[in-house]
Amino acid sequence: MRVLVDGDRGYIGAVLVPFLQSAGHEVVGLDAGWYDGCDFGPQPTGYVQRTGDIRDVVPEDLDGFDAVIHLAAISNDPIGHLNPGATYSVNAHGAIHMAQMAKAAGVPRFLFSSSCSLYGAGGDAPVAEDGAFHPVTPYGESKVMAEQGLSALADDTFSPSYLRNATAYGSSPRLRADIVVNNLTGTAYTRDEVRLQSDGSPWRPLVHVEDIARAFLAVLEAPRDVVHDQAFNVGRDEDVVQIRTIAEQVAEITGSPVSFAEGAGPDSRNYQVDFTKIRTELPAFAPQWTVPDGVRQIYRDMTTRGVTVSEFEGPRYVRLEKIHELAAARRLDLATLRTIG
Ligand SMILES: NC(=O)c1ccc[n+]([C@@H]2O[C@H](COP(=O)([O-])OP(=O)(O)OC[C@H]3O[C@@H](n4cnc5c(N)ncnc54)[C@H](O)[C@@H]3O)[C@@H](O)[C@H]2O)c1
Repeated sequence: MRVLVDGDRGYIGAVLVPFLQSAGHEVVGLDAGWYDGCDFGPQPTGYVQRTGDIRDVVPEDLDGFDAVIHLAAISNDPIGHLNPGATYSVNAHGAIHMAQMAKAAGVPRFLFSSSCSLYGAGGDAPVAEDGAFHPVTPYGESKVMAEQGLSALADDTFSPSYLRNATAYGSSPRLRADIVVNNLTGTAYTRDEVRLQSDGSPWRPLVHVEDIARAFLAVLEAPRDVVHDQAFNVGRDEDVVQIRTIAEQVAEITGSPVSFAEGAGPDSRNYQVDFTKIRTELPAFAPQWTVPDGVRQIYRDMTTRGVTVSEFEGPRYVRLEKIHELAAARRLDLATLRTIG
């Protein structure tokens, strides 16, 4: 298939693109390029990379594609809080705009990178795809708005699917330090302590970034009737864990002790997720990673590359820090979250 991947130069995109290429698909990327240079090892090659904003795409840009994989977004809560209006503009209206343009261009499939964070403050039972949405942040709300807008476009010619990814972990050529497993492993490496930012009690579903790529590939190649206007929680039941459990695993693997950041209290995002649907309806999705293996992978790659504390906690690996850096250099307008120039 010929596939346009937007957000291809981010954390998930940099793992997904080579994965699609090795499955025989032709990839074209589209990205604003905010994190160009935030490298953790060599970048993917061998495909066309377009630079631009998803909100400016016109149908002609999408002529001749068999599918769009839509990753481009404000990808976490802290950036979402900076300017909720602009976050909705990228994450909800931008996603719906991309889908409208894809549909107008005759692209039959649209895979949306959604998030389990739309379940937000869940109860004690694991939530399945038909569970209620209780987003607790503009980021989570934006994913609900996007899914609802995309679903309204579904018809005989256009099949959107919603991959509600658990929180990712694992190495990527565009590593992020602001997601929990990577963060705890990185503080073990750079500070010799596994420093918790919350009291560790919340439940969180996790999935390796390469297994997210496996899920996108499985949905891309699935029969239309299995994925048409369908949501899938992406992860494994075994990897729904309390954050303190992750911290203990990181401590055991790295030999660094667990500590608590000043003022660490409970976290309002607390949910357990049920992964029965993806396991039963998309058997081609066969996740390969466990959290301890992912911790060992990140720790090994950090050791190889010699990451410093200031690098790990700065703009290279923390998305919010990079956004602030771009805004200070007048390369990004925080009011609109648009590249300047
Ligand atoms: N990483 C996770 O744990 C996780 C979990 C669930 C869902 N997701 C979703 O998966 C997607 C990718 O996440 P990621 O971790 O790779 O994030 P990331 O921040 O590393 O990458 C996002 C990419 O999108 C690009 N982008 C942002 N706004 C754009 C715009 N308006 N036009 C063009 N490009 C734009 C950025 O330049 C960046 O390269 C996001 O939609 C995110 O919400 C991520």
